[in-house]
Amino acid sequence: MIIKNSEFTISSPSLSKCPEDTKAEYAFIGRSNVGKSSLINMLCNHKGLAKTSSKPGKTLLINHFIINNEWYLVDLPGYGYAKSSKTVRNKLEQMIAQYILQRKQLVNVFVLIDIRHEQQKIDREFVDWLGESNVPFSIIFTKADKLSPAKAKSNALLWMKKLQDRWEELPPYFITSAENKTGREEVLNYIDEINKTL
Ligand code: GTP
Ligand code: MG
Repeated sequence: MIIKNSEFTISSPSLSKCPEDTKAEYAFIGRSNVGKSSLINMLCNHKGLAKTSSKPGKTLLINHFIINNEWYLVDLPGYGYAKSSKTVRNKLEQMIAQYILQRKQLVNVFVLIDIRHEQQKIDREFVDWLGESNVPFSIIFTKADKLSPAKAKSNALLWMKKLQDRWEELPPYFITSAENKTGREEVLNYIDEINKTL
């Protein structure tokens, strides 16, 4: 798929403030600092579209970006940033849960996982929650440039395999790097295939 145009639309502090049109949305979620905003910029070939930072906790609102005037990429705040206060974390969690469970035009959630680490409890709990809630999702492994291609692949496979202790059917997964654009075509084609079914 070719991205002809990508533009920031709006930052919303709650579900009720999100855009009112009914275009399809693809949301990016994952731990703080996992690379959500960087991945959106990489997919769009648009540096600075979504704000990135080496410090965790950068994205605190629901950010909509309109693509080709047809559909949205949505940058969500990270979950589980230990240094933010409990009140802030609870508020963010509520906002994220409300958006994910109630947003009718949300067609797929991409859960981002840092490919360097073993399966973390917080990510696993999030994935289990999506599964239990019947939310369509896929996994995107990020920062693949930090490992050799072979190690990246084996880490991703192991992570996915671990899901089998509870889930029979596994979600699709992608190995990506915002640094060298690994996985860009695969993720965009996947979105394109879903868009065609809508
Ligand atoms: P929050 O908005 O704070 O939740 O973070 P985020 O998930 O949006 O992460 P962000 O895109 O801001 O990136 C966090 C840090 O990781 C930045 O320093 C990025 O440059 C770096 N980073 C993101 N993706 C990659 C990648 O694919 N490779 C490498 N090497 N670094 C990356
Ligand atoms: Mg961000």
